Amino acid sequence: MEPKLALALDVENQEEAFSILDQLGNEKIIIKIGYLLFIKEGSDLIKKIKKKGFEVFLDLKLHDIPNTVYNGVKSAVEIGADYLTIHTLGGKEMMEKAVEAKRGSDLKLLGVTVLTSHNEDYLKYLGTRYSLDQLALKLAKTAVSLGVDGIVSSPFEVRRLKEEIKKEFICVTPGIRFSNSDDDQKRVATPEFAVKEGADILVIGRPIIKAENKKELIKEIHRILQNA
Ligand code: C5P
Repeated sequence: MEPKLALALDVENQEEAFSILDQLGNEKIIIKIGYLLFIKEGSDLIKKIKKKGFEVFLDLKLHDIPNTVYNGVKSAVEIGADYLTIHTLGGKEMMEKAVEAKRGSDLKLLGVTVLTSHNEDYLKYLGTRYSLDQLALKLAKTAVSLGVDGIVSSPFEVRRLKEEIKKEFICVTPGIRFSNSDDDQKRVATPEFAVKEGADILVIGRPIIKAENKKELIKEIHRILQNA
């Protein structure tokens, strides 16, 4: 697939959200909505964003008993979400039910493996002998084999995932920056690098949110994605 851009719309409320969306012009992008907006503004916001012609990426990282996740995925389908994240650590049965719930719809399920906020202490906490990399690969492989459509990973892990996982899947990468930035993203990659490594969807938030001319920056990113 041609690489796509997902804007992480990490803002406080609908007013701020629409003030940004109104500055984006007709550029075809995905809008990623996380806890911050979804818990406050809910499905009403999703429907409005869809009406504006954007694809919606619900980043809710579902992790619960299989039946509850099944119901959550069904609801995401109902409100018209295009992408939804689930935790691969939720287990095989949970992922199977998630896949079953979206069957027949266009919703793409994206699996989250080991969060970048975790380190070796987390492995001790889980009681696993796997390294962080081994665990992330095992979880990603299992998820894709069960029918999860994509995996969220660092741009630095895309190549290995694409090499090791034989089945086709969508690779989604946050942690993208244009140059050295001073925010909390520690290991960042440029859009060119991410695409060359094999990323299919690039998640970018603050660099676009803070840009004076968001439309122009998105156009520039699209040029980069097409030429990388
Ligand atoms: O503003 P920024 O470009 O850093 O936004 C990146 C988005 O991707 C945020 O919504 C963040 O929660 C998400 N994310 C991340 N790193 C991960 C997983 C998700 O930055 N490992």
